[in-house]
Amino acid sequence: MNIKNVVVIGSGTMGSGIAAQLCNAGVPVTLLDLKTEISNKGKKKIFESRPPLLIDKSKIDNIKAGNIEDDFHLVGKADWIVEAVVERIDIKHNLYDKISKARKENSIISSNTSTIPLKVLSSKMLEKDKKDFCITHFFNPVRYMGLLEIVSEDINDDKKINFLKIFCEEKLGKGVIICRDTPGFLGNRVGVYAMQIAMTEAIKMDLSIEEADAIFGRPIGIPKTGVFGLYDLIGIDLMADVLKSFIKELPKEDAFHEVAKEIPLVKNLIQTGYTGRKGKGGFYRMNKEGDKKILEAINLKNSNYFPSKKIDLNIDDKISLKDLVSRNDKYGKYAWSIISKIILYASSLIPAVTKDYNNIDEAMRLGFNWTKGPFEMLEEIGVKFFVEKDNQLKISKFIKELHDKKVETFYGKRQIYTNLETLGKAKQLAKINKENKSAFTYEYKDYKIVEFNTKANTLDYDSMDALKQASDKNLIIINEGMQFSAGVNLNYVMDFAKEKNWKAIEKFIHHFQMTCKQLKYSDNLVVSAPSGLALGGGFEVLVQSDYVVAHTNIITGLVETIIGLIPAGGGTTNMLYRWMQTEEAKKDPDLAPQKVFDIIGYGKTASSPIEAKPFKFLLDKDISIMNRNKLLSASKDLINEKKNGYNPPKKPTFKLSGDQVRDKMFQTLENLFKENKILEHGMDVGKKLAFVLSGGNTSIDKELSEDDMYALELEAFVQLIQMEKTQARIKHTLTTGKPLVN
Ligand code: NAI
Repeated sequence: MNIKNVVVIGSGTMGSGIAAQLCNAGVPVTLLDLKTEISNKGKKKIFESRPPLLIDKSKIDNIKAGNIEDDFHLVGKADWIVEAVVERIDIKHNLYDKISKARKENSIISSNTSTIPLKVLSSKMLEKDKKDFCITHFFNPVRYMGLLEIVSEDINDDKKINFLKIFCEEKLGKGVIICRDTPGFLGNRVGVYAMQIAMTEAIKMDLSIEEADAIFGRPIGIPKTGVFGLYDLIGIDLMADVLKSFIKELPKEDAFHEVAKEIPLVKNLIQTGYTGRKGKGGFYRMNKEGDKKILEAINLKNSNYFPSKKIDLNIDDKISLKDLVSRNDKYGKYAWSIISKIILYASSLIPAVTKDYNNIDEAMRLGFNWTKGPFEMLEEIGVKFFVEKDNQLKISKFIKELHDKKVETFYGKRQIYTNLETLGKAKQLAKINKENKSAFTYEYKDYKIVEFNTKANTLDYDSMDALKQASDKNLIIINEGMQFSAGVNLNYVMDFAKEKNWKAIEKFIHHFQMTCKQLKYSDNLVVSAPSGLALGGGFEVLVQSDYVVAHTNIITGLVETIIGLIPAGGGTTNMLYRWMQTEEAKKDPDLAPQKVFDIIGYGKTASSPIEAKPFKFLLDKDISIMNRNKLLSASKDLINEKKNGYNPPKKPTFKLSGDQVRDKMFQTLENLFKENKILEHGMDVGKKLAFVLSGGNTSIDKELSEDDMYALELEAFVQLIQMEKTQARIKHTLTTGKPLVN
């Protein structure tokens, strides 16, 4: 068995996403749609997608496009035919009939349906087709969502299903969970139930949508879109269709029915075109008043919109679930109400829907980006506590048995869906040091692992301490949470800035520099294995590691200038050194400073390792990996390969032309200013960056050490943070989550 050629039918949201991911994996793929659709519709969608579906846009033409009338014969060449057309059974049945006649023997056929049972889809198929047919349920956006559910039946050949699973894991980088043919499979059955509970309880308990989203978010380990934000993102109309299908498919006694009833306010939103972000707005909307955009939130009682309020829950970021649900205020009560119901519902699905509760948790992690699933939540809260907290709860059989047997630790291994040695599994076996408040350190086999654990893994003094302490062994810096690191913790820096404590800022940045230097020059190997954001300070950790083993979905680069700062944790210096190694730079000493001036000045970022290389954010020695679950083992393999005879790099020296190259950069800034592309503050930041990159008060015959360069970075950073305009930019970013434009 092999998959060398794939045809995807239906080039809408999902079909184009699947085709793009196949293209990312280097698998030849053809995308077919109706003849009435423009043949390149799907490709156009892929090309323009944001975030980008392709890891390398220049490969777009590796996807062939066609239509089902003229090009259907291509189905005969395919090893795998993926159906991703509209969710209409008549259309799907028709298509399967045509596929049956055209396909080659033994090819795999799968549907991407999210709601139609496998037995209904295959009801009209010949036996020979049924055995090769399954559901491959990808999540949107395909490149970025980790989960793929494969739904199979007894008639399927296990070997073939397993082959497809491994292919999708290895090539497409997915976390593949094999499910039984039950409504909504695993992810949506629990995920959509959770969303409905969060919504209906918020209405019942009289919470505003902002309050509900604040609780049903980070405190529980759920992405900050919460419930109403997520509804807007998915599409309120699409969610209504999904609910209808659950109502149709699930038996009357299923608890889902209680939460899937039509809500007049939701119906009204759909009817008036408020279908979410793709429509006029949804629970939230962006209202324009003159030049200003104001985020508004709907009032659940009267359907009027009001400016959205930031909710201060007065809850520590790292509050335990037990403490959260024990709080005696409305937030604690809401948290208990939703968490208890989600746990009860999930546990009611054992064993009929799956015997492996672990798979439900993993589906929530991979498909909904939860940090933990319902069963891990149950273990964290404690079975006894859960059962005895509220005697009104109808305890499921699964929980009752645990309680009766007085079992508290039942969870066992993580990620049983895969044979890979994942970070999640390694963490369970490792010796752990939790003393540091910003990062955990694990000792596993003969190396150490550091995982940051702050909000978006932003970096502070303690994060750096953790790295410093861990560099006494070969070290892997890696993250199970969504982001490797969004950069330095700006709140931490701004607290000092408010007190005008510039000395403290200087001390912190110096500590940052010295830590990264230690990583770079220690006798041990340091491998950074990022996924998600590796920006600013996060990138500075990468650039000073020996190797980077990067997930294909990283977003990386130096973005400090956007908030009025410059990279000062070694980022400016190391980028300069990287560019100085090119042949052109050896001929022209001003080339590297100018290149890096552009890259850092514009705050350039790359959204894949392939995009990162032309900027030299990553180098040829670095590795790119499609499956996040493989980052740890690939890092470990690299350490084993390189550790014997490893020597830390030599300390670089810099010969820079000082004001000669600086004048050229100043000229660029003047031009941008004249063209109104930057304002005065932009000029100030640009000039500081130019000062560092030109080597300060130096000339081409002088040699600067790396420490001289670090000192220039540090000085510029401390000067910039003292500017009111810089502080205003940072405050804006902290309150809105977005940088100030211009
Ligand atoms: P879509 O509406 O974006 O695209 C459907 C495409 O099918 C359109 O381009 C349409 O022109 C094409 N089409 C219709 N009839 C066709 C035919 N006879 N032959 C060839 N092409 C035909 O729909 P979307 O969202 O991509 O959904 C596709 C499938 O994936 C559905 O079964 C849906 O339930 C499922 N799904 C959707 C998810 C989502 O978030 N949108 C998530 C997971 C599954």
